[in-house]
Amino acid sequence: MVHFRCCFVIFQVLFCIFPVFGHAQAEGGDAKMEAFVDSLIGEMTIKEKAGQLVQIAGGRSITPNSKINGQLEDRIRNGEISSIINVFGAKETARLQKIAVEESRMKIPVLFAMDVIHGFRTIFPVPLANACTWDPEMVEMAARTAAEEATSAGLHWTFAPMVDITRDPRWGRIVEGAGEDPYLGAVMADAGVRGFQGESLFKSSTLMACPKHFAGYGAAVGGRDYDSAEIPYRTLREIYFPPFLAAVNAGAGSIMSAFQDLDAIPMTANRFMLINILRDEWDFGGFVVSDWNAIYELINHGVAEDVEQAGKRAIQSGVDMDMISGIYGKYIENLVYQGLIYEEQVDQAVRRILTAKYKLGLFDNPYQYCDQKREKNELLTEENIQFARLIAQKGMVLLKNENGILPLSKNLKRIAVIGPLADDRVSMLGSWSCAGREEDVVTVLSGIRQAASSKTKVIYEMGCQVDDASLSNFNKAVKTARTADVVILVLGEKGWMSGEGYSRSTLDLPGDQEKLALEIAETGKPVVAVLMNGRPLSIGKLNDRIPAILEAWFPGIQAGRAVADILFGDANPAGRLTVTFPHTVGQVPMYYNHRNRGRPAADNVNHSAKYQDAPIRPLYAFGYGLSYSQFAYSNLHIIPEKPMNEEKIIIKMDVQNTSQVDGEEVVQLYIQDPVAGVARPVKMLKGFCRVPLKAGKVKTVEFGLPVSQLAYYEPGMMHGVEPGEFRVMIGGSSEDIRLQGQFEFTGQPKLVDPATYDFTDVRIFLK
Ligand code: BGC
Repeated sequence: MVHFRCCFVIFQVLFCIFPVFGHAQAEGGDAKMEAFVDSLIGEMTIKEKAGQLVQIAGGRSITPNSKINGQLEDRIRNGEISSIINVFGAKETARLQKIAVEESRMKIPVLFAMDVIHGFRTIFPVPLANACTWDPEMVEMAARTAAEEATSAGLHWTFAPMVDITRDPRWGRIVEGAGEDPYLGAVMADAGVRGFQGESLFKSSTLMACPKHFAGYGAAVGGRDYDSAEIPYRTLREIYFPPFLAAVNAGAGSIMSAFQDLDAIPMTANRFMLINILRDEWDFGGFVVSDWNAIYELINHGVAEDVEQAGKRAIQSGVDMDMISGIYGKYIENLVYQGLIYEEQVDQAVRRILTAKYKLGLFDNPYQYCDQKREKNELLTEENIQFARLIAQKGMVLLKNENGILPLSKNLKRIAVIGPLADDRVSMLGSWSCAGREEDVVTVLSGIRQAASSKTKVIYEMGCQVDDASLSNFNKAVKTARTADVVILVLGEKGWMSGEGYSRSTLDLPGDQEKLALEIAETGKPVVAVLMNGRPLSIGKLNDRIPAILEAWFPGIQAGRAVADILFGDANPAGRLTVTFPHTVGQVPMYYNHRNRGRPAADNVNHSAKYQDAPIRPLYAFGYGLSYSQFAYSNLHIIPEKPMNEEKIIIKMDVQNTSQVDGEEVVQLYIQDPVAGVARPVKMLKGFCRVPLKAGKVKTVEFGLPVSQLAYYEPGMMHGVEPGEFRVMIGGSSEDIRLQGQFEFTGQPKLVDPATYDFTDVRIFLK
């Protein structure tokens, strides 16, 4: 093995020089903008500067500290507020903006912000479901559509996309991200930022993105939200960083620091992460906002004695804006006067925030987002509703379909729809439903009623509650099931059961839903389970007894239509899991890209990496999902087989739809580096493509994999590519590998600057 250590010195030199130029370009490329922002800063008092670092809450509950300075309007007038979270509406934002730009001394516009996560008024499926489309264009479109709606209602800024990698489904916020894989996460992060921000921030339909929560928040110990993250440095860089880096490289205007501590340093006071990595290494030119009240929480973390010290630590660590704690507003001025922080430090944070306002066009036209006519026309349009239905279909994952029980005929005589989520509107919106309304939701029950033929009788029984151990309605449900030709069971979690603060110690179906399902199965009727949940669930018993299972997630306002489209075959499922489904919670964390082990898990070997009382494999693997079509793979070509320092390795193959039904296959490219300086993952996703294929048709899928994508962190933490063999695996999931090959990189050992590592740079062609 030849190492790339020898290139290190040159690399270090380059690495030290680049950030300097990078900053100049990011923040000062536009000389006019820089001059404008500097002249504003030159005229501001320290108090006004501190005001530009303050975000306060409109709608959502206000923390004790943020109440300190009195009425909202007066505070805007006094230049004490830079941004408001949770106020929207063209009229109201215009009213408040008018105070800022006409009545405050510096006339600086306010930034209106909200968590526009998966839709504004038209609520799309939750982000985890959207990632399961494996279709970045769809994800970008969802973000674009949300941005168009939100900006028409006066908003400038969203706290999205959430790009935290999650390997532990006990953590409820798994629902807000793209899942467990760094490559897929990076592609989705890129799509999300581009979607929200559009072509140019200056346009009135662009919503500034805020990838969050930097970093490691998804690795909360025990899956408990807000708990510490213990992440080895290599894993941090290889697994948790890629989506953030992709979001930065896509031009994200801001980033949110995470709540938790990472290796004992709370992220709100983590200079290494917020300055050394984010600014110096990645050249991030936007601003950093704290999470909700997180500056205050530095006291709880035990790294600040009081609020003043908390403020000092946060600003010195690179947190530019204080979300809601009120500490910057109250103490920054004093900290400067006492000489405890430099005024230049404050200026730097103010400069970044004013630059963002400038880039959003707010100094040119502070009212450009406050157009009531636009607001009326943009929200919940027919086009947006249709898109909500399409993306919901695309993210659903068919987990089981024994004997082709699905799709169902529309001419059945009686369909029994049973289960606590079948007619639950609110849960369909998932966590963060923004301006979404329950009355916009089509439930599964009404979706099925609309889709079935007029001769079909659709009968409904709730059977049980989601989270209540009352069996009292079981009998009615079982009786109803007995009279039906088919039973559609709609089970899962309530919408609020995944999301912030909702960690679970079990992944079982809550309440008595599993019992209900098993009793219904006893009737001998054909049963289809539709699952609605925001995390992988341990559904082994369901899998044993129920012939068809569709993972629908929380599908948004068109939930019922999209479910019906799939159940009746108007849409052919092609969603794939982006998170592993374990058999039992005891197996977590469980993820496909684990490292090579000294004693690989083997069923017949006791002393191997496994549990004695649980299977080696997950219930459903990463990348898994069924279709109504079948696909065959052939003709794998890897060109060249011995690449030198070539730009791209071409990996191409033919994929055929061998069935009678048009469908889509998600072709997945995995790579393994079998021998390296450190133990490498058994598989790493490096490319994917959702391929539409008409019945019987063949397409050639071609991936162009840059040599730089083979880079890894060697034992000394340098990042580069080493000569040697690489294995190539192609298939329809991480476990369903259909074609295998290999190539040998015979070029020179090569360092790859991790900051310029472009995860989205795998070219994909379809012929
Ligand atoms: C969450 C963030 C969110 C913020 C503002 C916090 O509690 O952690 O994800 O953006 O609130 O609503």
